[in-house]
Amino acid sequence: MRILLFTGKGGVGKSTVAAGTAALAAADGHRTLVLSTDAAHSLADAYGCEYGAIGSEPTEVAPGLFVVQVDAQLRFEQSWADIQRYLLSVLDVAGVDPVAAEELTVIPGAEEVLALLELRLHALSGEWDVIVVDCAPTAETLRLLALPEALGWYMNRVLPVERRVVKALRPVLSRAAGVPMPGDSVFDAIERLHAELDEVRTLLSGPDSSVRLVLTPENVVLAEARRSYTTLSLFGYRVDGVIANRVFPAEDADDWRAGWVLAQDEVLRRVEQSFAGLPIWRSEYRPREPVGVVPLAGLARDLYADDDPLTSSPGKAPFRIRRSEGGAVVRLSLPLVSRTDVDLARNGDDLVVTVGSYRRLITLPSGLARYRIAGARVEHGELQVRFVDDADAAGVAANAVADAAADEAGR
Ligand SMILES: Nc1ncnc2c1ncn2[C@@H]1O[C@H](COP(=O)(O)OP(=O)(O)OP(=O)(O)O)[C@@H](O)[C@H]1O
Ligand SMILES: [Mg+2]
Repeated sequence: MRILLFTGKGGVGKSTVAAGTAALAAADGHRTLVLSTDAAHSLADAYGCEYGAIGSEPTEVAPGLFVVQVDAQLRFEQSWADIQRYLLSVLDVAGVDPVAAEELTVIPGAEEVLALLELRLHALSGEWDVIVVDCAPTAETLRLLALPEALGWYMNRVLPVERRVVKALRPVLSRAAGVPMPGDSVFDAIERLHAELDEVRTLLSGPDSSVRLVLTPENVVLAEARRSYTTLSLFGYRVDGVIANRVFPAEDADDWRAGWVLAQDEVLRRVEQSFAGLPIWRSEYRPREPVGVVPLAGLARDLYADDDPLTSSPGKAPFRIRRSEGGAVVRLSLPLVSRTDVDLARNGDDLVVTVGSYRRLITLPSGLARYRIAGARVEHGELQVRFVDDADAAGVAANAVADAAADEAGR
């Protein structure tokens, strides 16, 4: 089963391209589900369905093409609000480590969490060959995709302690005002949610899932797409293609359009440079809105041309470790940044990688946790962090010299 996510800046054509790709996949004989993580009911609009025709059960809009609109009004909303409120109050009262505090602020809203859980159910159902996800604009998508790991970190580090402490102190503390006292049911609910979101993350960061960046050839849009590429990689997601949408055709252009063609060409050149190594699919600006299954499938057919729309560039795993004598090198795909854009810190067993306003806590495998970070550099679109084993006394001096040299070379 293949999972394709489409994201990009607001209004660039994410829903159009997602709906088109799904229509094409279905026309090619794949049993296809398309779902939206966006509260706006834009898929129904794209397929030209009547209001209310598409709901929280998959609806077949063409042979083999099913659409589902996640319903945020379900009871879940209430329980999520409880969990979220509890987490935030614990954070406040417990004076949780600031790194964790920052992580918790990425907790998204109910619709987004619900969409992930819905995706999980459909992915596990075994009913689909392809699941296409029409994501919300970039910032929300990134919050959404960062959530499972952030919550997982919290669960593994903070919650077991919380739970023990709460158990031991409940008789005393329940009389004290202002201290949040969750019952076991809250802990159970959080644990279940964690396990489910963890499965979603495993699915989405696995080799059968990928993210496609939709953009229009405009400088501000490209700037955002570049940042998303970096951030998606930081969180361990694979980007397997870029869609340049609403490209003005050059033929028979009047002066006004010729101006746009020139300007877009300039940006498209920068798109090619920015995403070198990835396929860049182009879609023309159509004379009218592509609405309905047939026009959308047609748009997708033109877009992918001779490429298989479900193809995935195999690519490297986003996170790799190579062990060597007396140490190891951890590699994390991190395109379009230089070393100065990346802040690296160590927090116990976690490697804390910050790029711009995004931060990932990577729990180090136990073998690495006792090593010291000897240096880091960014090269060929990846962050490389070198660890040395201080216990390996003989190797230390030699490593230090080699590390210093490598650091120089890496600059
Ligand atoms: N290649 C194209 N040619 C002409 N019109 C297009 C093209 N692509 C998209 N559109 C139109 O542009 C509008 C915005 O597209 P769409 O809704 O797919 O964007 P979106 O990125 O999903 O927006 P949002 O961020 O609001 O979810 C729609 O009216 C759509 O029909
Ligand atoms: Mg949309």
